[in-house]
Amino acid sequence: MHRILVINGPNLNMLGTRQPEIYGADTLADIEAACREKAVGLNAEIEFCQSNYEGEIVTWIQQARGNFDAIVINPAAYSHTSVAIMDALLAVDLPVIEVHLSNIHRRDEFRHLSYVSKAASGVICGFGKQGYLLALEAAASFFR
Ligand code: DQA
Repeated sequence: MHRILVINGPNLNMLGTRQPEIYGADTLADIEAACREKAVGLNAEIEFCQSNYEGEIVTWIQQARGNFDAIVINPAAYSHTSVAIMDALLAVDLPVIEVHLSNIHRRDEFRHLSYVSKAASGVICGFGKQGYLLALEAAASFFR
């Protein structure tokens, strides 16, 4: 069975109450449940994690090599700042699907640049919770 690591960055643990007009009413637990259901249909196994710490995310990415077949990542605010996360993703040489709940291109200019996109196979943004499910499908397409 193929394994997909789903990584969530800072403040995504606040989903549900955090600016619901932008990020929706679903909690991260709701998104995780939807991802787990989707993974069954894709015949994939997922590990779903969240951290507010950049270094912890870098370590998880490093450890993915040899243990996972693809990474789905919503790096949240670190998308726009983190060369370290970009470098870690480039180093592990796995399919990387970047996902954002909101359409970052319709928002503040500082959100238009994502360093992580430079290491991503593809990017999905603006579709809320559904974006995670599309990202899992995209990840699975690399397995066939
Ligand atoms: C986000 C978009 C980022 O700009 C923001 O910092 C987030 C969430 C999204 O999912 O829409 O925390 O990654």
